Amino acid sequence: MKPLHVATISSEMVPFAKTGGLGDVCGALPIALERLGHRSIAFLPAYRSVLRSGIAIEPANCTFTIDMAGRHMACRVLKTHLPNSQVEVYLIDQPHYYDRDGVYSDFRGEFRDNCERFSFFSRAVAEAIDQLQLDVDIVHCHDWTTGLIPAYMKTGFRGYSWFSKARSIMTIHNLAYQGRFWHFDMPLTGLDWTYFNWRQMEYYGDLNLLKTGIVFADAVTTVSPTYAHEITTPQHGCGLDGILESRGGDLVGIVNGVDYAQWNPASDPYLVANYSIDDWQTEKLKCKQDLQRLLELAEDPSAPLVGVVSRLADQKGWDLIIPMLLDWVHGRHVQFAILGTGDPRYETELRQLAEYHRDRLAVRLEFSESLAHKIEAGSDMFLMPSRYEPCGLNQLYSLRYGSVPIVHRTGGLADTVIDANDQTYSDHTATGFCFSRYSLQDMTECMVRAVDTFERDSSRWQQIVANGMSAVWSWEQSAERYVEIYNRLLARPDG
Ligand code: ADP
Ligand code: GLC
Repeated sequence: MKPLHVATISSEMVPFAKTGGLGDVCGALPIALERLGHRSIAFLPAYRSVLRSGIAIEPANCTFTIDMAGRHMACRVLKTHLPNSQVEVYLIDQPHYYDRDGVYSDFRGEFRDNCERFSFFSRAVAEAIDQLQLDVDIVHCHDWTTGLIPAYMKTGFRGYSWFSKARSIMTIHNLAYQGRFWHFDMPLTGLDWTYFNWRQMEYYGDLNLLKTGIVFADAVTTVSPTYAHEITTPQHGCGLDGILESRGGDLVGIVNGVDYAQWNPASDPYLVANYSIDDWQTEKLKCKQDLQRLLELAEDPSAPLVGVVSRLADQKGWDLIIPMLLDWVHGRHVQFAILGTGDPRYETELRQLAEYHRDRLAVRLEFSESLAHKIEAGSDMFLMPSRYEPCGLNQLYSLRYGSVPIVHRTGGLADTVIDANDQTYSDHTATGFCFSRYSLQDMTECMVRAVDTFERDSSRWQQIVANGMSAVWSWEQSAERYVEIYNRLLARPDG
């Protein structure tokens, strides 16, 4: 098969910028594509965090200005690499937009000029590909921040010649984040008002950048098959189910992979003890003790330790977790290690709860890569009762770390965790505990099942852990699926 030239366009990319799983995905997929023999490049805004990270950055010898609704904004393109790869990352530098703390927001809240910031990014990417003559075959756009690019490509914006050959693909990581702005932001996109209609860029009077991407892209994907189906229903479609339905067979769900170079208990530098499927029973206990010490939980090896690492957003099931904690911290011989940042309402409730139950419940309201790894390794179970979950990476990390996932059967959680029941024990496929109805009662029953198995049936528990640890969710498999789509698009004469 002929090697392709693929450009990944994203607002997050590990190790440069991350607020959630999007960063993990866009840091790993370009490398996986390169390993499959393709030429892979990527684009990211030159955020303050990137420029100050100490990584080697050089000019790409490409500068231009963009007319942002009458304001001429200069752009300088810089260049770096994704670590341990040849993947070139082009950084779109414009200090007024990106020299700030935070990707989308800071402590005062969402940036008010996000439409302008990411319109500029999208326009600069199109211009840079042109000026640098990058000769791309595929432009792979991720989420609303890049939704304008497929529109530029389809409408022949500024007559860039590279549009005639390249095809676009839009991957939806979370339909709830649509990049919806008031209609007077339309001139910032540079596109004509004629595109501001309900079939293309408009959504109930607003400009909608994710909808724009979905409408104009040559292919649309999301990050799990179940979520691909769910978002064509009114319940999960966030108002875009009709548009998605109209794309019919084009909408494909591909489960994310795990970067096992980053998330592997056998080599994880953040852990006091490394372990694999052969020695987890002794070594993982050391990680548990380390975590209990670090978080000032009672050092009790027999207490089931439940971990949570998650954004504090409604999506993640905090309206179930917090009432459950209120009950469980009193009655049960269970400990909790919780790491998250986000909604101040949840932060306050968790902080208050933790104050009274320090030996049972540890809450850390920060973004900490090292603690995220230590919780995966040190906990016995990992709770992820998301209301909805496009894919979810933490349950995949948990599987590999032998922290048995307890999940709501939705989206990617349904596609990646196999519930432990008599059937799945006997055929050795059980990897976790799942509940179907989103309710406190069902989640609680599911947790009781998990805790009972942990405490009373160690042979079953060991089997579940071992099944999970040996499951493989590699990027290679997922990248191959994307390549199939890329090839299909390039074989279609009209895109
Ligand atoms: P989402 O992208 O919806 O937040 P995912 O499960 O796909 O959910 O990915 C979340 C990623 O963000 C994981 O890599 C997880 O470890 C990380 N993460 C979330 N919150 C924190 C935090 N407070 N500190 C460190 N890492 C976090
Ligand atoms: C989004 C989703 C999450 C997914 C991640 C990466 O943030 O909420 O489920 O794993 O994107 O695709």
